[in-house]
Amino acid sequence: MIFGVDYYPEHWDRSEWENQARLMREGGFNTVRMGEFAWKLFEKNEGEFDFSLLDDAIAVLAGYGIKVILGTPTAAPPKWLVNKYDILQRDKYGRKKGWGARRESCANNPDYIAKSKIIVEKMAEHYKDNPNVIAWQIDNEFGCHASTRCYCEHCRKRFGEWLSKKYASIDDMNKKWGNVFWSLDYDSFDDVILPAYNSCESIHGDTWSHNPALDLEFRRFSSDSWVDYQKMQIDILRKHTDKPITHNLMGHFSDISAYDLSADLDFVSWDNYPDNQWGDSEYEYVSMAHENMRGAKNKNFIVMEQQSGACGWDIMGSTPRPNQLRLWTYQAVAHGAEGMVYFRFRTALFGMEQYWYGVLDHDGMPRRRFYELKKTGEELKKLEKYIVNAENKYDALIVKSYDNAWGHDIKRHAKNYNYENHLYDFYKANVDLNITTAVSHESYSKYKVVYMPAYNIVEDSELDEIKSYVENGGNLVLTFRSGTRDEYNRVRPLALPGVFKEIAGIEAVEFDALRTSVEICGEVNGTAKIWCDIIEPDTAKTIASYNGEYYKGKAAVTMNSYGKGTVYYVGCDLDKGGMEQLVKLISENAGIEIIEAPAGVEIIKRDGYRIVLNHTENAVNTGIKGKSLISDTDFDGTLEGYGVEFVEQGGHI
Ligand code: GLA
Ligand code: ZN
Repeated sequence: MIFGVDYYPEHWDRSEWENQARLMREGGFNTVRMGEFAWKLFEKNEGEFDFSLLDDAIAVLAGYGIKVILGTPTAAPPKWLVNKYDILQRDKYGRKKGWGARRESCANNPDYIAKSKIIVEKMAEHYKDNPNVIAWQIDNEFGCHASTRCYCEHCRKRFGEWLSKKYASIDDMNKKWGNVFWSLDYDSFDDVILPAYNSCESIHGDTWSHNPALDLEFRRFSSDSWVDYQKMQIDILRKHTDKPITHNLMGHFSDISAYDLSADLDFVSWDNYPDNQWGDSEYEYVSMAHENMRGAKNKNFIVMEQQSGACGWDIMGSTPRPNQLRLWTYQAVAHGAEGMVYFRFRTALFGMEQYWYGVLDHDGMPRRRFYELKKTGEELKKLEKYIVNAENKYDALIVKSYDNAWGHDIKRHAKNYNYENHLYDFYKANVDLNITTAVSHESYSKYKVVYMPAYNIVEDSELDEIKSYVENGGNLVLTFRSGTRDEYNRVRPLALPGVFKEIAGIEAVEFDALRTSVEICGEVNGTAKIWCDIIEPDTAKTIASYNGEYYKGKAAVTMNSYGKGTVYYVGCDLDKGGMEQLVKLISENAGIEIIEAPAGVEIIKRDGYRIVLNHTENAVNTGIKGKSLISDTDFDGTLEGYGVEFVEQGGHI
């Protein structure tokens, strides 16, 4: 199993390398990821290639048994490249992005593509036979620093071409987009604009008053542009090597489709920083990020950058508490990680990330965090058979759709509405009831319950699969703002909830985008703060009703038998308590086992054992007893602060 660190030999004097490699071996680290920002080092001037520093570093590491995941360096173009070629992105206002950080290049810029091809080809030729290079990482965090969408002329031209392949003719596109509205019909694909700064900006703030079809297609195109750019690099590597190829994705990040990006990769990896300068994450949020990444390919993944110290670019985030690095490692493992790489080995003395602490502090001395990881690595080795190729026993699925993430971002429905938060509310309620829950977008029949929150853009072709899941006995959960749009982001000429009206057995006759809050009561009790659909059940049964406003007494949550299955329709948002009651009711009806453990305890189900995590700093009685697979002794249920157990059979008491 990969147990490694992110390492930048170019940040250290060569005289330090030997000692650093020795320390890595002492810590049990067997892999480093490196190279991903070193373009200038590899190509000092255009066409002058020199890999000697990396060669020497790889050789030193190899002397200590440490292997390398090699990054292609295209996330950080050197100055000579931007001086000679205009490869920089343009923002919505047409302003050129500045050089001086990273991720400033345009995926559709022909010069950037040409220069990327050359450096990747040179690296592939140079390292293809190096036995110490075990895998490749393409670039680094596509889309990071708001770099997914570029508004330059190259992007505009390519967008027109992309559209011309998708639509039969310009008239066909005009019709599907409804360009007759505000006289927006185009005469040719060359004319199509990008949804950039326009006359309506000042009135509508961040909604730019562009045709929603244009906006959605541009988001799809921009996502595809990075997928294509990545594919270009994969194809080059593939000519020379069959070593596995990955890219480091970003968990919850939604600007680029993780499904499309990972389809071309051998495995997914991602970067996990639970507590940093920008805030501390709830543990459920981190678990969901892992599940997003596992669900991207429906396959185990590795964490390519795992937080290993306090993290900040200027102000510091929380320092990981004793045992917390170990806990985060097991949390990743519990959600499908089968390799861990910690960012970074030694904290940088210079550059933007001087305060992004790694395993070692600035002085390079091993301390608490180093020894905690060393111990964790030793344990992981013993547990390898529970990690590599291990599978969770998933009961529920949250469907994440990138089309819908984009669609809901384009039209936000209500002031405080957010698609990702809505998905997270359902995930969190499931995890808080210790229901092992996946996040993905396919194979519905594997799950007892499928949550399809706010599935608003629905392609006609998807409907059959959704219906047949229910007909064959599945439990589908739909929510407000669903089923009303087609793939061109047009509203369908249907009553709410659009294409789901029949299977939900209801009609939402009116709705209320809330300015205040409304109580819900019945089998589920709670409060709505964002949205209320006013439901007239047809064949459905009412589970909860509104207790306020002019729609007092009207249905808020319903349940409908359809074929052999059930469709729930949740017409409103719910507070934490209400959401938990709802998920409990749905899960119990579906025959899913619920484990009510103390707050902060997470339990993940696997065949024959359970992984138990204590995300709090205090000892707790988890209520799970059995044989510990970590220590081979009896586990009485009590976990220390940030403690972890793998409990055989895991009988619930
Ligand atoms: C990201 C990047 C790293 C580094 C860390 C810390 O995950 O991939 O290069 O910048 O953040 O900021
Ligand atoms: Zn561009």
